[in-house]
Formats: sequence, structure tokens, C-alpha cells
Amino acid sequence: MDEKKVLLSGIQPSGDLTLGSYLGAIKNWADLAKEFDCYYFMADMHTITVRQNPAELRRHTLEQLASYIACGLDPNENTLFIQSHVHQHAELGWVLQCYTMFGELSRMTQFKDKSAKHQENINAGLFAYPSLMAADILLYQPDYVPVGEDQKQHVELTRDVANRFNGLYGDVFKIPEPYIPKVGARVMSLQTPTSKMSKSDPDQNGCVYLKDDNDTVMRKFKRAVTDSETCVRYDREGKPGISNLMEIYAACTGKTYEEIQREFDGKGYGEFKPAVGEAVLSVTAPIRDEAQRILKDKAYLESVYKAGAEKAGYIANKTLRKVYKKVGFVAR
Ligand code: TYM
Repeated sequence: MDEKKVLLSGIQPSGDLTLGSYLGAIKNWADLAKEFDCYYFMADMHTITVRQNPAELRRHTLEQLASYIACGLDPNENTLFIQSHVHQHAELGWVLQCYTMFGELSRMTQFKDKSAKHQENINAGLFAYPSLMAADILLYQPDYVPVGEDQKQHVELTRDVANRFNGLYGDVFKIPEPYIPKVGARVMSLQTPTSKMSKSDPDQNGCVYLKDDNDTVMRKFKRAVTDSETCVRYDREGKPGISNLMEIYAACTGKTYEEIQREFDGKGYGEFKPAVGEAVLSVTAPIRDEAQRILKDKAYLESVYKAGAEKAGYIANKTLRKVYKKVGFVAR
């Protein structure tokens, strides 16, 4: 009998994986399989809310799967799949759109940010995106959804939609909890440390990718924006650049802020910044190299995503049948 609690998360393969997604999400997933029944997917359906190059999207999706495995997600212990392979996501997504309010969607920060950035393409999918995300989650009845800070609002909306649905039809959905790491939940741009590190950062020096070679990583950290002081001290408001670097260093080394302050006491930023680069590389370089190796074995990747879609589809279908019955659709 499987008594394990369930956990689910996804990342959009809209570009290369960033250090933000790694520290805010994937890094914390690797050790969870022993305790939880884990589902992780490539959220490819979400990416097309913004125009994508089709060949790039396919490449990023497979690279992301290879990176998941390289980060320690063993496909025998975790269900790894591609969102568009499990058609129940789109189906439940539609149903849940009918239970998500216009006002709720209008308040979503990600919608506001993305519609400001892509004014030429504010499409219905971009607006309804959180309903699809709610479907992604609720199909698997998870207890926890491990995400970075920026996705908390979407998980909260998911809970509201699930409660609304349960209120009408009885206990159909388990109400999931967001699971946010204490360190690394909000990695900021190295160039604009007041905004989130993101692959869409106009200044690419601000964003570190898992794929970056050693020289690029070191260069980006050496150029990181700091402040006019010289002391390494944690102060999010007053010293956003240094605090961000401290958070990255803490997440990569497991050290506390006090330990870091002591380690760099009397030493300047000139010593601290490359040390952060080295700490990052000690974590990301092995992943990068392993992902490249795995990526060459297309047959293996295909076997992983096919098995993943089968397992995910089986669970997702159980929830979808229940939902269809509750809302009154005639069974086929
Ligand atoms: P996405 O693809 O933007 O980001 C993937 C994960 O990485 C986290 N993250 C960060 N954490 C810390 N600092 C950062 N700078 C940073 N940037 C990204 C995100 O919080 C997220 O956990 N809508 C989701 C994808 C999704 C999903 C889901 C997630 C679709 N369906 C169901 C969980 C459950 C998104 O756009 O994440």
C-alpha cells in the first residue's frame, strides 16, 4: 500500500534553465523521492502563451528533461513527463477556467508583468494561464507544490479554485500547500538586484544559466552589481546586490549569513564575488556536464518521457473522470 504523500511541480521550457529555477525549485526536489510520490513536468503548454520558436521549444523541452535527471531526479523514483503528452491537463484546464473569476486572474502579478512585456500579444491563454496551472496541480491530488516565491500567488489561486469546486460538488480535490525553500526562493538579477533573475532579463549578464561554461559564470559574478560600501553584510533593502550574492552563496554552500559575514570579514567585494562564482560552479558544472551526456541518448530520454506520460496519464484520468461526472457530463 502506498501511503506516501504526493508532490508535484513544473518548469516552463521557454529557455535554458536558470540558476533561479535551480535554487528556487529543482535543487530542493532531488531528495524528496524517498519521502514523497513525486511528479515533475516540462510545462510546454504554458510556454506558448508567449510566442516560441518551435524547434527551440522542442530542444529546450528535451534539455530540461536531461537537466532534471542530471540534477538527481531518478526517473525510476520520480514521474517525469511532458505536459502536452497528458491531454487531461488541457481538459481540466478548460473546466477550471469556468470556475476561475475574471477578477482573480486580473490580479495575478505574472499576468500583469507579462502583458506589460508583450503588449503586442496579450492573448486569452496568457490571461487564463493560472487555471491551466491549477489543473496541472489538482489532477495529481498533491499535498505539496514546491516552487519559488514568485509562483506562490498561483498556488494560492489554485487552492481558492479547488475550494470553490469542492464547495459545490463535495471533496473532489485535495487542497495543496505551496512548499517554498528558506534560502534561494527569490534569486535576483545580478545586474538589477531588485528584480527577479529571469531568462527574459534584457541584460543577459544578470542571468546565470545552468548551461553556462565556467568562464561565463565567473565573468557574470565578477561583474555583479553591488554597492559603494566594501563590507559583506546581509541587508535586503539597503544592500540588495550583496544580499542576493550572499543568498546564492548560502544556497550553494549551506552556510548561514553569519558564517558568510565572518568568512569575508575585512575582505572586499573583489574577493567575495569570485568566491560566489566558484561556489555556484561547484554545484552547476557537474549538472551541466551530466545533462550534456544524457542529452546525447535520445532513445533513453524518449523511454523516460513515454513511461512518465503513461503513469501521469493514469492518475490524471482518474481525477478528470471524477470531475466530468460531478459537473454533469455524460460518461462515454
Ligand atoms: P517558471 O518556469 O517561471 O519557473 C520554474 C520554477 O523556478 C522558480 N523560479 C525561481 N525561484 C527563485 N528565484 C528565481 N529567480 C526564480 N525564477 C524561477 C519558480 O518559482 C518555479 O518554481 N507557472 C510556472 C510553471 C508551472 C508550474 C505548474 C509550477 C506550470 N504549472 C504547476 C508548479 C506547479 C512557471 O512559470 O514557473
